[in-house]
Amino acid sequence: MVTCSAPGKVYLFGEHAVVYGENAICCAVDIRTHITVEENDSVLIESPLGTTGIDYSVHPYVSEVLEKVRAMSPFEGIKVHVESDIPIGSGLGSSAAVTVATLKGLDNLLGLDLSLEEIASIGHEIEIQVQGAASPTDTYVCTMGGTVMIPDRKHLDLLDCGVVIGNTNVFSSTKELVSNVSALKDAYPELISPIFSTIGNTAIRGETLLAVKDYKEVGKLMNVNQGLLDSIGVNCPELSSLIYAARNAGAFGAKITGAGGGGCMVAIAPEDKVEDVSQAISEAGGVSLITKFTGQGVRIE
Ligand code: MEV
Repeated sequence: MVTCSAPGKVYLFGEHAVVYGENAICCAVDIRTHITVEENDSVLIESPLGTTGIDYSVHPYVSEVLEKVRAMSPFEGIKVHVESDIPIGSGLGSSAAVTVATLKGLDNLLGLDLSLEEIASIGHEIEIQVQGAASPTDTYVCTMGGTVMIPDRKHLDLLDCGVVIGNTNVFSSTKELVSNVSALKDAYPELISPIFSTIGNTAIRGETLLAVKDYKEVGKLMNVNQGLLDSIGVNCPELSSLIYAARNAGAFGAKITGAGGGGCMVAIAPEDKVEDVSQAISEAGGVSLITKFTGQGVRIE
């Protein structure tokens, strides 16, 4: 029996635009999905979503991991037990975390000897198969941990400030949002391509500000990024309420994290404002979570 865990992630800059090759900065956060894998007579997947065999409607990611691994190293049966502190469909990388944690668990159980790069890359293939389109960002950051500039995979320093997440509890489908954004880009390429490139530039300017720990200016650029995300149709009233509540309570900056359309927002804040920001998010109707940036990616527990 092997237990593994992988962290969730937040985007400081660059979601959606990263799908089109623009820069993004994504950080692992200390909210984790735990999986336990063990040999079994048949394939069994247990999670808060239910207990199934290979079942793409209930457990698409774990089912695809099992099929992929079975093609590499045949097995009779495996039981996968999933427990997650990362809310599903919330933009915090729940699907990437369960995918890479399960891959790491099976790697260890079956002696596959996969490198972390291979786990991230197989995880990315699985996200593409399940979602239709996905950048490698989520699976890479959930595997490696830390603060990562995409697409170069350059590791930046962990942020030395507070981070608060607000969950709208409005379910959103990454696949649907990525496809809506793609349709918008196809209809108005001359308008949308420059927006993507400006989003990418917030990440590039953001990197230089992070290097000197100028979180006040980083927050300003996160707010600019938020306006651009709104312009491509991935905002919603619930996200806006939480974002403005966080800013008004003293956050350096606040924006959507992940696909948007619901799910979560992220705020960075001075440590002494974190409680105020969290309370403001709760009062605005969100589920607030004070967390920490983490350098710890997928790991055996
Ligand atoms: C989802 O967490 C982030 C998106 O940019 C999609 C992706 O990068 O695969 C919206």
